Amino acid sequence: MKNTALITGATSGIGKELARIHASKGGDLIIVARREDELEKLKSELESQHNIEVHIIVADLMKQGAGSTVYQEIQSRGLKVDILMNNAGLGGYGNLHERSLQKELEMMQLNMIALVELTHCLLPEMIKNGGGKILNTSSSAGFLPGPLQTTYFATKAFVNSFSFGLDQEVRRHGVTVTALCPGPVKTGFEAAAGMGSSDLFKRAATASSTSLKGYAAMEKGKLVVITDGQMKFLINFMLPILPRRTVLKMVEKLQTVK
Ligand SMILES: NC(=O)c1ccc[n+]([C@@H]2O[C@H](COP(=O)([O-])OP(=O)(O)OC[C@H]3O[C@@H](n4cnc5c(N)ncnc54)[C@H](OP(=O)(O)O)[C@@H]3O)[C@@H](O)[C@H]2O)c1
Repeated sequence: MKNTALITGATSGIGKELARIHASKGGDLIIVARREDELEKLKSELESQHNIEVHIIVADLMKQGAGSTVYQEIQSRGLKVDILMNNAGLGGYGNLHERSLQKELEMMQLNMIALVELTHCLLPEMIKNGGGKILNTSSSAGFLPGPLQTTYFATKAFVNSFSFGLDQEVRRHGVTVTALCPGPVKTGFEAAAGMGSSDLFKRAATASSTSLKGYAAMEKGKLVVITDGQMKFLINFMLPILPRRTVLKMVEKLQTVK
């Protein structure tokens, strides 16, 4: 097994591109998602193009305890994880009081709890081995509140805070944690979140350019990478000075589906 990376949400969008990048560098893969046929297709594509092994784990990470089940599967197959990319995630559009509570809780389970669970399972081995890398696909949404996707933005604030705190804990053991914070990206995300067409996605980046920036930041052990230039400017220079209510109105307007 060569420099094995586990990637959740590898059947589409950013995760699929992260898998392609890692494979192109000669690393083995453990790819995780719900759609077995898409996992199989990616396995065939990558194994035929590169001299690598791709292992598939079919899992619904919205289910309680799914992170531990994935870990047990890794153990039972005798696999070792050098790089963990917690990428699977989901948005959810609409006013909170009009959305189903079940959907909100499932989103929190996927975006936050499965991520913490997998990290907690795999970290001790990385520390014992004297090194490892973790890339958490968070979002620029993690830096500000997001009316019309309030729970989603809050889950990403959690992922940012978790990633930054954890990096400080484990860096001394040779493990780094990087938060990948994209702006809008053209993937299956918009449809899965039920967003229709909002202004926000008119200037969406590609999954491949976003993944390349995230992978490079992870390799360098950077704490965070905000991949969208405009978002980076907004987060670093505008948010600290703009009144909070102005920001809330601005985000609501941007996310309103026409
Ligand atoms: N696109 C954007 O604008 C954007 C911006 C900022 C951050 N992000 C973040 O980027 C990450 C990847 O999203 P994407 O944009 O690439 O969207 P995507 O194309 O919809 O991909 C989502 C991936 O997550 C997997 N997934 C969804 N629910 C799952 C579940 N219950 N269990 C296991 N896997 C599950 C999907 O696979 P299956 O359906 O096969 O399970 C798919 O591979 C997410 O964390 C998202 O929050 C996206």
